[in-house]
Amino acid sequence: METTRLTVTEKPIDTIASDLVVYFATKREDMPPVCDPKVEDRVKKAHELGDFLGKMDEELMYYPDVDTKEKKTGGKRILVLGMGKAEPEKDLADILDNLRRLGGNTARACEKTKAKTLLVCVPHIPQVPVDKISQALAEGILLGDYRFGKYKKTTRKKTDYKGLADIKFFSDTFVKPVRKGAKMGVTAARAACAARDMANEPGNGWTPGQFADYAADLAKTHGLKYTCLGKKDMQKLGMGGILGVNQGSSTPPCMVVLEYSPGKKTDTLLLVGKGVTFDSGGISIKPASGMEEMKYDMCGGAAVLTAMAAVAEEKPDLRVVAIVPATDNMSGSSAIHPGDIIHHYNGVTSEIVNTDAEGRMILADALAYGIKTYTPDCVVDIATLTGAVIIGLGHHYSGLVSNNDALSERLVAAGKDAGEPLWRLPLNKDYEKQIESKVADIKNVGGKPGGTITAAAYLSKFVDKTPWAHLDIAGTAWDFTEKSYIPKGPSGIGVRTFISLIRSWKKWEQPK
Ligand code: BES
Ligand code: ZN
Ligand code: ZN
Repeated sequence: METTRLTVTEKPIDTIASDLVVYFATKREDMPPVCDPKVEDRVKKAHELGDFLGKMDEELMYYPDVDTKEKKTGGKRILVLGMGKAEPEKDLADILDNLRRLGGNTARACEKTKAKTLLVCVPHIPQVPVDKISQALAEGILLGDYRFGKYKKTTRKKTDYKGLADIKFFSDTFVKPVRKGAKMGVTAARAACAARDMANEPGNGWTPGQFADYAADLAKTHGLKYTCLGKKDMQKLGMGGILGVNQGSSTPPCMVVLEYSPGKKTDTLLLVGKGVTFDSGGISIKPASGMEEMKYDMCGGAAVLTAMAAVAEEKPDLRVVAIVPATDNMSGSSAIHPGDIIHHYNGVTSEIVNTDAEGRMILADALAYGIKTYTPDCVVDIATLTGAVIIGLGHHYSGLVSNNDALSERLVAAGKDAGEPLWRLPLNKDYEKQIESKVADIKNVGGKPGGTITAAAYLSKFVDKTPWAHLDIAGTAWDFTEKSYIPKGPSGIGVRTFISLIRSWKKWEQPK
């Protein structure tokens, strides 16, 4: 996927050799679907026979006939994909998500036919800017073409499909915007696929040190500023949260920081991602069944670092700082005990009632440290934080908890644009009461009721008055709503939301 090339061409389609050519067709009432004149005759025939109406997800595949006008075509196979009815009144975000799905369908068709080279005839949709169409299609194809085969060494056959090598987007009249959109789509999809790669690595393949190495590499290639606080730094700084979680582990923790600065005075956005490389629960150990999934407990950290790859490439007018507190959560003989009291970076003391509520402990130090060090205008954290969010929202929405309406609105809009919907949950003093402790300032669990919100209430003690939003992605980081461009396994959630948020950033107006 990293090596998949996507270029835009205006050369006549017939002259381009490819394994598969894809066209799109729009459904009409009792009429043949609207499509490119090159495939019109076939589509009309299929419509007459009732085989292809142009409905969303409908597919018509055929092989160019040497006796017809297609005889010069360079494509080995032609695939016409139904787009459904053109409904200009439909929400733009929904139209774009349909295009991503069509991109995903295209990738699946490529896998089925083992196509390595793909030519896509970019469709026109009334009232939808062509760069947006191209961006969504590019994202859908690349996200749908994702596979992780690194550890399948001996069973893999030479003939196994390895994904697309070359994609061409054809547009005769809109080359420039198609190129611009495709580039944005490729950047976002590559970042999300990099996050999926990290998440797919097992606990022994992706340790805190790997987060540090990835960030250091990114900094080196793109000229970002990289810092990594090690265990000794954390001890000096009094980061009792991350140190407490790491106590039972033989693998040292890291607090990885990447900073992009546009070199002029702009707003600062701080992103913080939970980087628990494996969550056993610690002494409050998790049940064995399904525990292997806790290798995904670092998806928040993956999202913020890979979003930085896109930031580094696109160089927005916004300072962006990403922090990943990274550790595993183990139950070694020095592990933190239930009942222990820790001192967080900002001086707040916390009674650790359940060592499995470790995400909030490491995020607390990272939030307080990031806010003190970088004085951001806004801060967003992202974490696979609570099982409770799955009970509340299932696998279709990520949870959002915030102390700021304007930031929440920006995030909800960005999530919608990315096809990664967010649902805001409330936060007030009543929830904060649930985490009051008899022996310390706070405790790390607030009971079963409102578990996602009480976890956020804990984090709120570390952001002071800074506009802050928390994204709980425990239900969406994997097992996310099944779509053709979201294969089973880690979804890469959050990455494209952050990229969309940053691309559309307007000067922050709220008084600090
Ligand atoms: N990493 C888990 C949350 C999680 C659960 C993510 C299921 C994905 C799927 C987190 O560290 C955790 O264990 N949370 C506990 C908190 C509880 C002890 C207050 C939970 O949600 O059960
Ligand atoms: Zn846990
Ligand atoms: Zn966890």
